Amino acid sequence: MSPRHRPWEEAADFQIGLRPIPLADWLEGGEADPAARKDPLFERVRDLVWAETPGSQAGQAEAAAMVEAALGPAPAQRGLPALYAAARRVPDDLCLMEKRDGQWRLAALSLSAGGFFTAAEAIGKSLEELHGPVTGFGERFLVRVQRVFEGLRPELVLERRNWTVLNSADLHTPSSAPIRAQIPDIDPREAGRVLCLRVERQTLRRLPQTGGALFTIRVWLAPLSDLAADPERLAAFANAWRAATPDLRAYKRFDLYDDLVEAFLRDPQPA
Ligand code: HEM
Repeated sequence: MSPRHRPWEEAADFQIGLRPIPLADWLEGGEADPAARKDPLFERVRDLVWAETPGSQAGQAEAAAMVEAALGPAPAQRGLPALYAAARRVPDDLCLMEKRDGQWRLAALSLSAGGFFTAAEAIGKSLEELHGPVTGFGERFLVRVQRVFEGLRPELVLERRNWTVLNSADLHTPSSAPIRAQIPDIDPREAGRVLCLRVERQTLRRLPQTGGALFTIRVWLAPLSDLAADPERLAAFANAWRAATPDLRAYKRFDLYDDLVEAFLRDPQPA
């Protein structure tokens, strides 16, 4: 197997990277029972994986109806917030964005595979606040992204992807500290097995009735060693790793992984 999405082959820098895709391709599926992964988190660490604001119920219901239109009807889930009930049916995390006081803000989210952020931290934040840690986002991207939200047509589905390398095969990674603390213990000969390519495939759609937008995040993980069987893919990854811009490298903390990744590239063993 090689990673399903390979965004590193496309850009060495941060990018907006939104492109229209056919409606039929909106949700990728591919996980037998997302609820079996999400429900225990919802029970145990709810603040990390779920949050909603007052007044978001109509938007949640519309987002849930959109998921239902794509997947077909499901038995009613009494007692669960509508957006979470919908998120239990899909591998993706679901983020409801609504315009409040002139700003696009996170009105509700089910975030079972958060990449170093949590529902409790993110709820209510504007696009600008959410992207505070992203180097240069305010100057380079914010206005354009806000315009995308304003201009979303109901029939449009936009997709973007990002990638990073992480020493974790878990989807649920709310914080970086415990993961990074393990890096010094990784045997360089094991780097291909222990380090994972982590790709987020994100989509954005308008909710025509309530006027909000539904942002989905689907995380794909594959060990680096999955690249080893294909010399061309391996070379493309090596190139992406070494060509990444200083800002991108700093934001993703590639410095922590340089020695391990280079050790893997010197002696790439298939999984
Ligand atoms: C659809 C338009 C959007 C664009 C173009 C965009 C762009 C970006 C970019 C360039 C990054 C840096 C990592 C990467 O390359 O992905 C990023 C990170 C992030 N984005 Fe977005 N984003 C969008 C929408 C959203 C929405 C709706 C949310 C709400 C959940 C969000 C939440 C975040 C968070 C939490 C991060 C990580 C920030 C951190 O490091 O703490 N983004 N985004």
